[in-house]
Amino acid sequence: MDMLFTPLRLRDVELRTRLGLPAMSTYQAAPGNLPDPRWHLAHYQTRAVGMGLVVVEATAVAPEGLATPDDLGLWDDDQTQALAEVAEVIAAQGAVPALQLSHAGRKASRTRPWGESGDAPLAEADGGWMPLAPSPLAFADGYRVPAEMTPQQIETAVTQFAAATARAVTAGFRAVELHAGHGRLLHSFLSPIANRRTDAYGGDFHSRTLLLRQTVRTVRAALPDELPLLVRMSCVDFLPGGWTLDDTVRIAPLLAADGADLIDCTSGGIARPETRPTGPCWQTPYAATVRHKTGMPTAAVGKITTLGQARELLADGTCDLVLMGRQLLVDPMLPARHAPDLAPAPYQRALATTTATSDGHLPPEL
Ligand SMILES: Cc1cc2nc3c(=O)[nH]c(=O)nc-3n(C[C@H](O)[C@H](O)[C@H](O)COP(=O)(O)O)c2cc1C
Repeated sequence: MDMLFTPLRLRDVELRTRLGLPAMSTYQAAPGNLPDPRWHLAHYQTRAVGMGLVVVEATAVAPEGLATPDDLGLWDDDQTQALAEVAEVIAAQGAVPALQLSHAGRKASRTRPWGESGDAPLAEADGGWMPLAPSPLAFADGYRVPAEMTPQQIETAVTQFAAATARAVTAGFRAVELHAGHGRLLHSFLSPIANRRTDAYGGDFHSRTLLLRQTVRTVRAALPDELPLLVRMSCVDFLPGGWTLDDTVRIAPLLAADGADLIDCTSGGIARPETRPTGPCWQTPYAATVRHKTGMPTAAVGKITTLGQARELLADGTCDLVLMGRQLLVDPMLPARHAPDLAPAPYQRALATTTATSDGHLPPEL
């Protein structure tokens, strides 16, 4: 049996394959942090072909939670309406549309990653704003010292996640992913590197995890019972004194009890500089550890570039779901080449006949 093309059920939602696109920011939002129909509809429609799940890129729950001015947002009715079209084109291809909800925390107010002034803090003169964070500690040299959040601001952030969840459901998304990795707000509260608070939200494990747990519970309450909630976590910080894999193993069952259904296992991003390993499938042992030690379903991601690797990760019990990012950005037909039936009718014959030979030549009837 080919596990990759075997359905995965999360609550009442069935993914037709165990292959998904992870959230991949494209930084192409139209004014108002709306999806640009000319970009986002074509992009996500194409990437939904042959897929079980498509997680739409990090979408901010509030203006101050945007990482860059080019990110999508979901705090008003226009955004809800426009995102409904994105969910619709994904679902029309047979994939489950999910939305990643994010608050960039101290990594807010940056430029998009390319270009001359790319991947840098955005100065106030250029439209930058004050980032919010657990403690007044900058993400890296040259970045603005963020404002330490008041208890009222923390409560507001939880409410913003819940309100965006309700909007995501209205827009037709069939799953929500909370971005609790890569140094964003929810991760920054978890990690002692960024969180030096002395109130209820900082200090020991229980206090540092309070915000994420409150958010999961509040978001769960805003999500219909039949729809799954995914949590993307940086399983390790790669910095001394940071969040560890043991911490991730400890929190996973607590998040499950709070209403999370799957941990999407990524890593790093809490501060710079950091040294991280790399290589084929390099991050997948985190997904394996969380799955084996907690029984919680996991997604694996990180330099998975072939369907053979994906099959192995499923067969050896590393994860329940395989996410392929950069590979599917550049080669979106990869899954459909191996399962032409999952492609739209106009592509099916082309896929069946162009992939029939292993030597790279088209079959003679073409
Ligand atoms: C251009 C780009 C944009 C990304 N945007 C997001 C994002 O919005 N949210 C997120 O959680 N991760 C984001 N990531 C991380 C990816 O989801 C993924 O975890 C990472 O690229 C590793 O997987 P890969 O080796 O298959 O690309 C991004 C990565 C890239 C390269």
